[in-house]
Amino acid sequence: MSSQIIPVEPFDYVVFGGSGDLAERKLLPALYHRQIEGQFSEPTRVIGASRSALSHEEYRKFAEAALKEHLKKGEYDEAEVKKFCARLFYVPVDARTDAGWDQLKKILEEGKDRVRAFYLAVAPGIFGDISQKIHDHKLITKQTRIVVEKPIGRDLASALQLNDTIGKVFKEEQIFRIDHYLGKETVQNLMALRFANALYEPLWNADHIDHVQITVAESVGLEGRAGYYDTAGALRDMVQNHILQLLCLTAMEIPSSMDSEAVRDEKLKVLRALKPIDASNVEQATVRGQYRAGASAGGPVKGYLDELEGGVSNTETFVAIKAEIGNWRWAGVPFYIRTGKRLAGRMSEIVITFKPIPHNIFDQAAGRIVANQLVIRLQPDEGVKQSLMIKDPGPGGMRLRNVSLDMSFASAFNVRNPDAYERLLMDVVRSNQTLFMRRDEVEAAWKWVDPILKGWEEAGQQVQGYTAGTWGPSQAIALIERDGRTWHDDI
Ligand code: BG6
Repeated sequence: MSSQIIPVEPFDYVVFGGSGDLAERKLLPALYHRQIEGQFSEPTRVIGASRSALSHEEYRKFAEAALKEHLKKGEYDEAEVKKFCARLFYVPVDARTDAGWDQLKKILEEGKDRVRAFYLAVAPGIFGDISQKIHDHKLITKQTRIVVEKPIGRDLASALQLNDTIGKVFKEEQIFRIDHYLGKETVQNLMALRFANALYEPLWNADHIDHVQITVAESVGLEGRAGYYDTAGALRDMVQNHILQLLCLTAMEIPSSMDSEAVRDEKLKVLRALKPIDASNVEQATVRGQYRAGASAGGPVKGYLDELEGGVSNTETFVAIKAEIGNWRWAGVPFYIRTGKRLAGRMSEIVITFKPIPHNIFDQAAGRIVANQLVIRLQPDEGVKQSLMIKDPGPGGMRLRNVSLDMSFASAFNVRNPDAYERLLMDVVRSNQTLFMRRDEVEAAWKWVDPILKGWEEAGQQVQGYTAGTWGPSQAIALIERDGRTWHDDI
């Protein structure tokens, strides 16, 4: 079974940071896959742009090597790669001077009626310079969009400034703020599950749900990104964007349609309804952790400070938060969120735990009745699992058993699971903003995160050490267990 591929209009994608890490690992492989799936209309080009002095040919070699390294076994097809490389071009461009911009303009003029997308896979510090140069060199057409990667700021003030700088040159509908978690298959399935089934929505509220857990666990460490990560930490790197987006999709009201404004309006309301966590309650509501040496992915690994090469740092590589949404639907329902590096496994999931049944008619011999849980697995092995109590089969007394209706999308549909970037890159061409963050969403997320950061500072809240390869500091377990609940850990 395969999904229907609708070709997009011909486009020119200009990737600033075209010879960088994101282009190499994600963007080029994603575009290659879309070509193979037949989604491109001709003529379509990808134009790498960065400061490195590469020729078109050298860039094609770079792309070929990137595809060799990052495609899965069997995905590299000589003929397709050749075809893909033929649509690649490269222009050395300097964001801060005029060097290279005329050449870029000349290349783009050949496709002046095509969709034109500028992808800023560069440090946010030069978003403003690049936008301004794009404007000054008159590269913005009616069909132009700009794509910006996180981090969008490191607090509310810098996010406002960044949004203003880009907003000076581009209209909001032309700005695509990417959060790649929104492109993950299961994240969209969350909307299908909630809004295309009659089953869940009537129960999706404080009357029937006991609590929600959102976990994004990684087994990797810094992956050579110490410079950025140590100035960010897990709250800025993962919670402000990915995890709050997951929380919004889980908690939002039913939008009137899948229209981008309707969906984003509802997400925004959730962000605005998050109860503040600040210096007055930050120590009860949050846990910060930092990994120490341990074992992960089958071998010994260094601690965070050793990865920093002798640095001293109070940056958190793990965070757990008990969040609450102050509205009628969610009054009193905690949303426990946690994320961290060098944890026991790579696992992202949303777990909805329903309330216990109000009255038990079975006798003691039937066993304990476990509250129903719905587990939405984002990775690995995307799928949905619903636990139910059933009668243990066979004659004899009534014994109850907790079983799972478990659907793994990979085995149910037997299709390749596309990377999140594949969908999002094509959504930019289609000008569909549904899975991108609107300016006010980013700012509302920072409005909630800023007081936590400030609270940590004021309270002097230190990071708690945890051994690499475990589920984080013991304080994170205490955070949920003191409420009589436990983290869902069966991976
Ligand atoms: C990025 C973070 O946004 O997401 C990284 O900056 C993190 O630190 C990554 O590793 C996780 O993405 P995924 O898709 O591998 O879960």
